[in-house]
Amino acid sequence: MKALLLENIHPDSVGIFTSGGFEVDRRAGSLLGDDLVSALADVTLLGIRSNTKLTAKVIEAAPDCLLAIGAFCIGTNQIALEAARARGIAVFNAPYSNTRSVVELAIAEIVALSRRLGDKTGQMHKGVWNKSADGSHEVRGKTLGIVGYGNIGSQLSIVAEALGMHVVFYDIADKLALSNARHCDSLDELLGESDFVTLHVDGRPGNAGFFGRAQIDAMKDGSALLNLSRGFVIDVDALADALRSGHLSGAAIDVYPREPENGQPFVSPLQGLTNVILTPHVGGSTLEAQVDIAHFVSNKLLDYVTAGTTVMSVNLPNVAAPPIEGHRVALVHRNVPGVMAQLNAALAEHQANIGFQSLATQGEVGYVLTDVTYDIPGLTRRLQAMRDTIRVRIL
Ligand SMILES: NC(=O)c1ccc[n+]([C@@H]2O[C@H](COP(=O)([O-])OP(=O)(O)OC[C@H]3O[C@@H](n4cnc5c(N)ncnc54)[C@H](O)[C@@H]3O)[C@@H](O)[C@H]2O)c1
Repeated sequence: MKALLLENIHPDSVGIFTSGGFEVDRRAGSLLGDDLVSALADVTLLGIRSNTKLTAKVIEAAPDCLLAIGAFCIGTNQIALEAARARGIAVFNAPYSNTRSVVELAIAEIVALSRRLGDKTGQMHKGVWNKSADGSHEVRGKTLGIVGYGNIGSQLSIVAEALGMHVVFYDIADKLALSNARHCDSLDELLGESDFVTLHVDGRPGNAGFFGRAQIDAMKDGSALLNLSRGFVIDVDALADALRSGHLSGAAIDVYPREPENGQPFVSPLQGLTNVILTPHVGGSTLEAQVDIAHFVSNKLLDYVTAGTTVMSVNLPNVAAPPIEGHRVALVHRNVPGVMAQLNAALAEHQANIGFQSLATQGEVGYVLTDVTYDIPGLTRRLQAMRDTIRVRIL
């Protein structure tokens, strides 16, 4: 079996696939359209990052041997997930591999804002020596307000407490408070008591512009705002006004409503303002995160090939399974009545004992794993002939 890895995926993946019995073709660049389809001719697993566009057209033209796609990154917008699901091609990504990287940047920025490091180092590079304690503070004893207490928010909570900060958080979902962190009943409660407010909400459509002028006005005088979540959650013009008026003492922003391609000009109303740290969406960009992504996604793909498990697949129903006992039938099918009856009838005819069976459905697609004690002759052909089968494999 062959794995095609595009876009310079971390070399650790090569070792993982090779030891899993794969021949690996690792390339530096991405491929487009027909070139991509031709390169897939004998490929079982495809690994990409964000530059390879897997459109519905490419996925529909891909050969049947393509079992799964690994997005060796966080987002999956570059993949036509529905088209892949319709063909029974599983897609995996690495949503949490860079959690720690984002947390560490947020911590660094909280300290940097407290000591006005951005401005101080900027002055030094221009030859200005300005030794002064004005506007410089320790973070110990200050209150950090975390909005969105998910993977990143909750880990930030632990690390910030280790620096002696008080942590309060607000989340629309019920979340367990870690360590001494305290849950706020409303966003306004959090804004009214936080010296630093940091946004770690997800990208659901309802969050567009949710942190606007009213929320910025409700922050404490002299407090600072961080956004390392999504660019569209903040009203950047309102933030710029609050910084210019002195209502806020600083801001650290990593994500923007419009982010240019590498090398293209970046324009923002926040440019040139005092004590404002601007970074080009690098919160999760560390070598450690890349290594973690390589291991996480490669192992998910191998587990899918060898055991059929789809835990954390972003487009197929998630099915976990114990180690295979005998033979495993992996059936991706249309989610309509009667498929399970047909599958189990086929097994019953051969008096095959089912050792394990698990079904999950998601929208129009179902996925079932079934362990039987022996390799039933002709089973693949019979299941392939069922009207609602999308893909069948015997492992
Ligand atoms: N800057 C970067 O490079 C970088 C890297 C990784 C992730 N991110 C972004 O960071 C954000 C958080 O990532 P995560 O893995 O912690 O996500 P997550 O899904 O684990 O957590 C998000 C949390 O926000 C909560 N939430 C959603 N809307 C809310 C609202 N309006 N008010 C309060 N709480 C709300 C959710 O209930 C959830 O608990 C995401 O937007 C992600 O895209 C950025």
